[in-house]
Amino acid sequence: MSVLKTVKRVTTHVLYEMKLKREKIAMLTAYDYSFARILDEAGIDVILVGDSASNVMAGYETTLPITLDNMIYHASSVVRGVKRALVIVDLPFGTYQGNSREALASAIRIMKETGAHGVKLEGGEQVAESVERILSAGIPVMGHLGLTPQAIHKFGTYVVRAKEEEEARKLMEDAALLEKLGIFALVLEKIPAKLAGEVTANLKIPVIGIGAGPQTDGQVLVLHDMLGINQEFSPRFLRRYHNLYAEIKGAVQTYINDIRTLNFPSEKEQY
Ligand code: KIV
Repeated sequence: MSVLKTVKRVTTHVLYEMKLKREKIAMLTAYDYSFARILDEAGIDVILVGDSASNVMAGYETTLPITLDNMIYHASSVVRGVKRALVIVDLPFGTYQGNSREALASAIRIMKETGAHGVKLEGGEQVAESVERILSAGIPVMGHLGLTPQAIHKFGTYVVRAKEEEEARKLMEDAALLEKLGIFALVLEKIPAKLAGEVTANLKIPVIGIGAGPQTDGQVLVLHDMLGINQEFSPRFLRRYHNLYAEIKGAVQTYINDIRTLNFPSEKEQY
């Protein structure tokens, strides 16, 4: 029987069981109550309150400007819309790197003020101390390796990561280290499918891919990209399931036209 058949609430343990039974994990981002509710009712397993909110909600070019207060606002809105999915929140840039005490304080704020179920952070060995300290408080941590957008100014571009042997080997080592420290799942972003397959096979924890091929234990996409709300972003890995930009624009244009032509409100739409 499918792991999900008997599950009222997705937990980190459920994801682990899904990996064991080779059931794929479906994850999407969300940043507000209304979308979170739709995703949850549709049966999504994990909702990530991603720092991609910095791009798709706030219009910044990178994920760097978003603050912990901003993330807490988005995450608490999402949590209010969710009954079943596991809700994970990105620790934003500057709230966990280089200072594990600050990392723990940031993670505690997220857990206390949002009601979310865990945090995600980017990086391997360089954030090991922060990961350990957050885990020591009983807060589930999801890792993120490969293309880590908070380090965009170090990389210089958003191209595929770990194509060269040395970077691939380092990524494998970081993944093994994070698992050893006790993270419950790992996101791999924009790396070769073969490498993602190897990491997935080597780890006991679930691995969720974005632009990392089909062999990972699950997939994640940014909601606004897969719904076609965000038109500017078209990487090869993105599948658009809708063209909401055009649909919403069309609806707004019809509304404007209805007002101008005295078609709205009609007799039925007044008191
Ligand atoms: O912030 C985000 O949306 C993410 C996903 C791309 C995994 O980290």
